[in-house]
Amino acid sequence: MNREIVQTNDSSSTLYVPGLEQHYHSMHGAMQESMHVFIDAGFRLFESADKPVHILEIGLGTALNALLTYFEAKKLNLKVDYTALEKYPLSMDEMLLLNYGSLLDTKEAKRILTDLHQIKWEEKIAVTDFFSLRKFETDIKIYSAKEEYDLIYFDAFAPSAQPDLWTLEVFEHMYASLKPGGTLVTYCVKGDVRRTMKAAGFEVEKIPGPPGKREMARARKA
Ligand SMILES: C[S@@+](CC[C@H](N)C(=O)[O-])C[C@H]1O[C@@H](n2cnc3c(N)ncnc32)[C@H](O)[C@@H]1O
Repeated sequence: MNREIVQTNDSSSTLYVPGLEQHYHSMHGAMQESMHVFIDAGFRLFESADKPVHILEIGLGTALNALLTYFEAKKLNLKVDYTALEKYPLSMDEMLLLNYGSLLDTKEAKRILTDLHQIKWEEKIAVTDFFSLRKFETDIKIYSAKEEYDLIYFDAFAPSAQPDLWTLEVFEHMYASLKPGGTLVTYCVKGDVRRTMKAAGFEVEKIPGPPGKREMARARKA
């Protein structure tokens, strides 16, 4: 996949895919979008969890969501089992162009970001004693799991670019892979996407979005 590195308005970098005319994150700010949509509206729901939080991300991309989840888990003293699917992994050269390590301004951030990208595929790896990662180089359309996850970060490209990832079939798989009471968060709040999520069984709410976007969606498995 041909990709270019670009800088967003909060100084954090992201990637642009000319072939799809899609950015990996909002140009208003990659880091602030990830913090808002996935950490504040998703992961923070589990701040009192006394068991590991099982998270599924579609797709891993730059690993920014995983990196921010790692630091939030450390701050909140939570354990996380993180599973990520990615069909088009970044090369090491692309990973080295991302500035998240320097923006977070810690040696640890640089080390963890590198680890997240470098660890083996298909195996559950303990990145630290409180954060494990299992990466699958696969297509969301062929992945299935049963009541494994507490939380899903649904971070596919926009429905206009990848309509085949926002279908009833994919959301039914996501629904089945969540534990009862589990949550899915996504930046996309389009009416037809919310209707598809509801048809898959989710209770869907619109909540305030990150800067530059009025709303986002949070969906719950009853
Ligand atoms: C909007 S980007 C977000 C990436 C990532 N969450 C991040 O913060 O960098 C969408 C991601 O989904 C991946 N992707 C696209 N099609 C996919 C598919 N069919 N199955 C799994 N991942 C896919 C892309 O390669 C890309 O990494």
